[in-house]
Amino acid sequence: MATSCEVNCDVKDLTLANKGKNRIEWAARSMPVLGLIRERFIKEQPLKGLRLSACLHVTTETANLAIALRDGGAQVVLCASNPLSTQDDVAASLVKDCGIPVYAIKGEDNQTYYQHITAALDHKPQITMDDGADLVSTIHSTRRDLLDNIIGGTEETTTGVIRLRSMAKEGVLEFPVISVNDADTKHLFDNRYGTGQSTMDGIVRATNLLVAGLYVVIAGYGWCGRGIASRARGMGAKVIVTEIDPTKAIEAAMDGFQVMTMKEAAPLGDIYITVTGNKNVITKEHFELMKDGAVVCNSGHFNVEIDIPALESLSISHREVRDFVEEYTLHDKRKIHLLGEGRLINLAAAEGHPASVMDMSFANQALSAEYMAKFCKTLEKKVYAVPVAIDKEIARLKLDSMGICIDRLTPEQEAYLASWSEGT
Ligand SMILES: NC(=O)c1ccc[n+]([C@@H]2O[C@H](COP(=O)([O-])OP(=O)(O)OC[C@H]3O[C@@H](n4cnc5c(N)ncnc54)[C@H](O)[C@@H]3O)[C@@H](O)[C@H]2O)c1
Repeated sequence: MATSCEVNCDVKDLTLANKGKNRIEWAARSMPVLGLIRERFIKEQPLKGLRLSACLHVTTETANLAIALRDGGAQVVLCASNPLSTQDDVAASLVKDCGIPVYAIKGEDNQTYYQHITAALDHKPQITMDDGADLVSTIHSTRRDLLDNIIGGTEETTTGVIRLRSMAKEGVLEFPVISVNDADTKHLFDNRYGTGQSTMDGIVRATNLLVAGLYVVIAGYGWCGRGIASRARGMGAKVIVTEIDPTKAIEAAMDGFQVMTMKEAAPLGDIYITVTGNKNVITKEHFELMKDGAVVCNSGHFNVEIDIPALESLSISHREVRDFVEEYTLHDKRKIHLLGEGRLINLAAAEGHPASVMDMSFANQALSAEYMAKFCKTLEKKVYAVPVAIDKEIARLKLDSMGICIDRLTPEQEAYLASWSEGT
């Protein structure tokens, strides 16, 4: 007989649960820090009785976070933070094996995507956990009835934090939110190494192109862009970077990449990757200059970095030539290939970040939820950084798990660094 969780969910196919369970366990092997937090949560129950709605990419790593939160006493429900990022076997296992209601189906249309967000909010959360601020913005626009219950939230990604900071600046943010993205143990590793590797993985899985020798154009040299550029170079690509920030542009140039405008790069590239968090970075004027066969994709949070309507308007036809590869034929017969509908290519065509890096990101999520539960009464309606003590503790635990020891300051060194009169 079906459990109430199995009835109150919306996933693709519950018979996929066994495959999902095995893959969730596989990811857990690379998530020792989250594993330690989970063990403590089981004993201490810091989230006991709290309703928590999470809107995250439904991956094996997220499953391990959801399990840790549940074991800490929270009543967790999960929906997707992107229509293409759900792993259906994981969603099935969370429902069937873990009793966690999930509302997410890979490839869901926009209407279903927002219905699933509504379903997660019907849980009447006291804590929200977002990747892109969709729960927070829906609550503030159409579900203000929920505000009385909410003690606070957490946010995973750069784009979500930008949205939240502008809400706080305008004085419209109604509860405190912790920016997990700002933790060093998050963006230094997740955005750089996680996005770097998984973006190239997504492109290769979708196209099976040999990257060596190709021109790869990367728009944005932030944490993610740096990671992708170094991985693409490692695979033998000739990397071009476009930027709007002069300092980042110098950094890219001194890291050894060619830096130019997107218009200058448009006739040169074989593969284009946007990762700016901005909109309309690749537009009609760029498509008009691109080579026959150019591949265009995005790894930024929203699917607005590539002007897809402009590409459609320039095309006489389009067809799917491989999974996640849409071939657009332009008036002059050139073909441009759009990957993963312009959505996060690392999650659409690959599996997102490897578990080892999500170990630290989700350790921050779990400990931030615990911090929120403990200290919400003292927090204002603002965006807070993850407390430094949590960030450093996660770094220490991760280093331990990697079997790496580092030196400690001697008392003499501590005194030297603390004193203004030394060093003369
Ligand atoms: N794919 C993933 O799994 C994943 C993971 C983490 C973050 N993200 C998303 O990736 C995006 C970038 O994140 P980040 O942490 O690197 O942010 P960041 O702020 O560190 O970097 C963004 C960079 O883009 C540049 N930029 C802005 N507009 C531009 C334009 N028109 N042309 C060229 N460059 C431009 C900015 O100057 C900045 O250097 C965000 O949307 C973030 O949410 C995706």
